[in-house]
Amino acid sequence: MNGLDLIKNRRSVRNYRPEPVAKDLLEKIVDAGRLAATAINIQPWEFIVIIDPARKKELADLTEYGKFIKNAGACIAVVAKDTKYYLEDGAAATENILLAATELGLGSCWVAGDKKPYADKVLSFLGVSEGYKLVSLVAVGYSEGELPNPAKRPLSEVLHWERFYAPVAQPDRAPAF
Ligand SMILES: Cc1cc2nc3c(=O)[nH]c(=O)nc-3n(C[C@H](O)[C@H](O)[C@H](O)COP(=O)(O)O)c2cc1C
Repeated sequence: MNGLDLIKNRRSVRNYRPEPVAKDLLEKIVDAGRLAATAINIQPWEFIVIIDPARKKELADLTEYGKFIKNAGACIAVVAKDTKYYLEDGAAATENILLAATELGLGSCWVAGDKKPYADKVLSFLGVSEGYKLVSLVAVGYSEGELPNPAKRPLSEVLHWERFYAPVAQPDRAPAF
């Protein structure tokens, strides 16, 4: 798939077939994560892959809206050293992971980590050292059933040329440069 199609076709998947995901696929996905853009190339991230069913369930149970993690073949925890741009860096890595999973025919879903009350419990469950933050937990596995089709705000509503304007004041076409 080309990059733009990949972006268009990626969806958050919460229903999974109970099938493991091969380690080489998980390695490719993490490899995409580590290649993300990162402020001043610090690369503060570490990626912890959880595939053991009992550990996946325990992890899923720690989350609020990520109970489906237990049904996915794997969960990738994105953690980052507590640097100035850890959240932006970790989010960029997480998006790369979602896109790589899509490219490899796998479903995935970003489950919130940073700011969640369970973040410290997850870090401790994963044995992460002091000084790291939990950015995200990404469920990865083979999708079951139809992909969701969440509403997306149209380009015409979110794109502003030159300056911000309220939707009513939007020109009906882009300026000609
Ligand atoms: C920071 C962040 C946290 C999210 N946390 C959760 C979560 O805890 N549980 C969940 O089911 N989905 C979570 N999502 C996925 C969003 O619900 C999803 O991206 C959104 O509904 C749009 O759907 P799409 O990803 O298919 O485009 C999260 C997404 C982001 C970016």
